[in-house]
Amino acid sequence: MGKIKLNINIFQNKGFKDGYVMNKFPDQIIRIAIVFAVLIGIVIAIKLFAIPPELQEQGIFRTSAIERELDHPSQFAGSEICSDCHDEEYDLKLNGYHSTLSCEVCHGAALAHTEEPDEFTPDIPNKRRLCAICHTYNLSRPTGFPQINPYAHNPLEPCITCHNPHDPVPPESPRECVACHANIARTLSVSPHVKLECTTCHATPDEHKVHPRSVRPGKPENRAFCGKCHDRGSDRKDAPKIDVSSHGQNGEKYLCWQCHYPHLPEID
Ligand code: HEC
Ligand code: HEC
Ligand code: HEC
Ligand code: HEC
Ligand code: HEC
Ligand code: HEC
Ligand code: HEC
Ligand code: HEC
Repeated sequence: MGKIKLNINIFQNKGFKDGYVMNKFPDQIIRIAIVFAVLIGIVIAIKLFAIPPELQEQGIFRTSAIERELDHPSQFAGSEICSDCHDEEYDLKLNGYHSTLSCEVCHGAALAHTEEPDEFTPDIPNKRRLCAICHTYNLSRPTGFPQINPYAHNPLEPCITCHNPHDPVPPESPRECVACHANIARTLSVSPHVKLECTTCHATPDEHKVHPRSVRPGKPENRAFCGKCHDRGSDRKDAPKIDVSSHGQNGEKYLCWQCHYPHLPEID
């Protein structure tokens, strides 16, 4: 009940009773209207007088900013002009994997250099850092973009020892035995047989390195093979000697590598 009474009171104020036009509205509404009128006035004033005309012409762009930027001296020359004096690098890059990169992406702004080549020389970015910017593995890069993990991919050496920056054809993996048989190679390297080549014991057709599962190297087949160096009759001086016909339990019965691992022969 109390609330309703209050509302009625609003329309029963003095001004309304006196019949003034202005007072057809309650005081509170008039006060709010005045506040809004002042605010709108300020906004119009700012728009008309405080914002410089050059800013108004282009919406939110300051037209003089365009002139100011145009006034900056150019720093970049573009790649075309480099070919005048460095046709070798230019031609190399033209159809290579880096064809889409501008020279100055790697060498930095070089306009000054093109004008006075001896006075200003561009950077030669020969550290791993540069290449890592684009080639470090990153999930968000497009599928198929060549990426590496710089901590694991041939660390410590500059990338350009293996990749030509102007034509980075990915080199072939080394086709040494160690590239695929690393464990065996490591084992052999700390064994008494360290001085023997893999191919001393495994005749290996070149095709094995291309189709390793279908083309297989040879393996020693009998005791006589080891006997070539280890038999008492052998003239290989640095190899310890045994009697192949009787050494090991029951002579003929066991192959030498049933007791001695050939890649790390031990006698304990
Ligand atoms: C007017 C000929 C000319 C043009 C154009 C030119 N260069 Fe050169 N550039 C030279 C000469 C001459 C040198 C050798 C300067 C020296 O060894 O002191 C050189 C050297 C360089 C070097 C090696 C700097 C060093 O320290 O050995 C790089 C990198 C290079 N230029 C990049 C560029 C790039 C990128 C462009 C194109 C934006 C370019 N050049 C355009 C003449 C030119
Ligand atoms: C992907 C980065 C990259 C791009 C793109 C690139 N370069 Fe290079 N450039 C290098 C690196 C790294 C070296 C240093 C090579 C070295 O020391 O073996 C180099 C060396 C040079 C040299 C010095 C060669 C020398 O034997 O002293 C010249 C000149 C040069 N670049 C010119 C160019 C020009 C011209 C272009 C564009 C057509 C270009 N480069 C594009 C990375 C780049
Ligand atoms: C600004 C970015 C950028 C920089 C810096 C850069 N590369 Fe590249 N690289 C590329 C692009 C782009 C390709 C082409 C990718 C494609 O063909 O899809 C590419 C391709 C390659 C490839 C070919 C790989 C393959 O199997 O397709 C190698 C290798 C390579 N870059 C090595 C380097 C080395 C080394 C450096 C430093 C001297 C370097 N890149 C610096 C962008 C870059
Ligand atoms: C010791 C030599 C060596 C060094 C140093 C080296 N790479 Fe490689 N890189 C290779 C060989 C070999 C391959 C091709 C076989 C492979 O993928 O491992 C290759 C492949 C690549 C590929 C292609 C990968 C793909 O998936 O197609 C990129 C990109 C690359 N290297 C970038 C780099 C960058 C960047 C650096 C320096 C941070 C670098 N390499 C340093 C030897 C090297
Ligand atoms: C490109 C990778 C690669 C290279 C390089 C490579 N191999 Fe292999 N090699 C293999 C694979 C894969 C197998 C089959 C392994 C399997 O079937 O378990 C194999 C099998 C073998 C075998 C066992 C054959 C058998 O019948 O049990 C021998 C021995 C061997 N390789 C020796 C060598 C020697 C020696 C070299 C260097 C001259 C070499 N390989 C180079 C990948 C390679
Ligand atoms: C002293 C002779 C000798 C040398 C040197 C040697 N191997 Fe063997 N290798 C053998 C014998 C014998 C076998 C057969 C073992 C068996 O059948 O149990 C063998 C077996 C293998 C096999 C078959 C898988 C296994 O582990 O049995 C591979 C792969 C292999 N060798 C690779 C190599 C590589 C790679 C090198 C060089 C880093 C090498 N070998 C050096 C004698 C040798
Ligand atoms: C091409 C010659 C050669 C062939 C083939 C060869 N070895 Fe040897 N072997 C050596 C030499 C050399 C040493 C001694 C290295 C040293 O101690 O300096 C040695 C050492 C050994 C030792 C002694 C290790 C030690 O701790 O003293 C054993 C066991 C052995 N070989 C077993 C074999 C077996 C099994 C085969 C056959 C699969 C074989 N070797 C084939 C040259 C050969
Ligand atoms: C039944 C297991 C067995 C067989 C099979 C075997 N060995 Fe042994 N080999 C041993 C033992 C155990 C020793 C260490 C004690 C000794 O010298 O008799 C040894 C020692 C050696 C030594 C070191 C001799 C020295 O004086 O340092 C060589 C070399 C050797 N063997 C080579 C071979 C060769 C080659 C074959 C195959 C013809 C072979 N062994 C077959 C068990 C075997």
